[in-house]
Amino acid sequence: MTKFDFQQIPAPLLSWYRAEKRDLPWRKDSTPYRVWVSEIMLQQTRVEAVKEYYVRFMQALPTVEDLAKCEEEKLLKLWEGLGYYSRARNLQRAAKLVVAVYGGEFPCDLEGLKSLPGIGSYTAGAIASIAFGMPTAAVDGNVFRVASRLEENPTVISDPKYRKYLETTLSAVYPDTPKGCSDFTQSLFELGALICKPQNPDCARCPLNTLCRANKHGTQSSYPVLPEKKAKRAEKVYVFLIQTPEGYCIRRRETGVLRGMNEFPSHVVYGDETPENILNEWGMYAFTEIKREKYTHIFTHIRWDMTCVWVQTDSAPFDAYALDEIEESVSLPTAFKQCLKTLQN
Ligand code: ADE
Repeated sequence: MTKFDFQQIPAPLLSWYRAEKRDLPWRKDSTPYRVWVSEIMLQQTRVEAVKEYYVRFMQALPTVEDLAKCEEEKLLKLWEGLGYYSRARNLQRAAKLVVAVYGGEFPCDLEGLKSLPGIGSYTAGAIASIAFGMPTAAVDGNVFRVASRLEENPTVISDPKYRKYLETTLSAVYPDTPKGCSDFTQSLFELGALICKPQNPDCARCPLNTLCRANKHGTQSSYPVLPEKKAKRAEKVYVFLIQTPEGYCIRRRETGVLRGMNEFPSHVVYGDETPENILNEWGMYAFTEIKREKYTHIFTHIRWDMTCVWVQTDSAPFDAYALDEIEESVSLPTAFKQCLKTLQN
């Protein structure tokens, strides 16, 4: 592969970005706190899905101090449905450190930022460039896609050396003003999202189309080179909607995926246990089954084939909550939340 001159990209990319950029809530008032929260939310979630969560989160917790002292349950409720809940916990751990160690001001260098929980080189690069105006690339999936097509780079994107190479190479061509640095990082995200899409890239409208080797050779679909996908493990899970006179039972998960989150009491099947056996194991012998329904939920490495079992009983060995309380103030991951449909029809 001959060397590609990345120095050519900032000028056309910045003109395009300034004319075409989307109006996104985190682009107003780019403080480190606001940029940080948006980047963490955007890590595994689409922009369209994040927008509404972000606005709600900033209304509820407008400063890093508010986040540091927020009740965990309230935080998880704000995060409910976004998934990857360890992101929310790390966010709060980092907020507590920013308040306790840094007097409420984010460290303004890459190393200081990376020392905070949940902040890796991507997030540190994004905060440093977008909020502090520093020449630090933030290499996410969008940036891998844009850069690998520009130079037809055959390296698999999971190779840590490739990330390092792109961080160094792109950081070296950053503009020399803070606003330029902030916009350049975002222009790469924006190009990846609007033009240089994974499928059917819109090369005719791309400001870099005359420079792009993949466009020249028609090889866009061969880049970036992705790692082989591992098959997902399937788990069969019983989820119990246990209705008592006080409401529906909820408990905290102790193990497995979603550890530490609330759940309707559930059980991953490992043999030939039946719902009746499982309820008996929990000390419940007198119950009436109302209905069973199947659901699936896909996690990163696991697929859950869920059977939701709705039973009524006079007493159960778990805390119970009224339905409106579950909907309004108990945080419940999407895998379990969908089981509420069983109660409706
Ligand atoms: N994807 C990751 N970070 C982003 C940002 N700040 N704006 C738009 N899309 C993004």
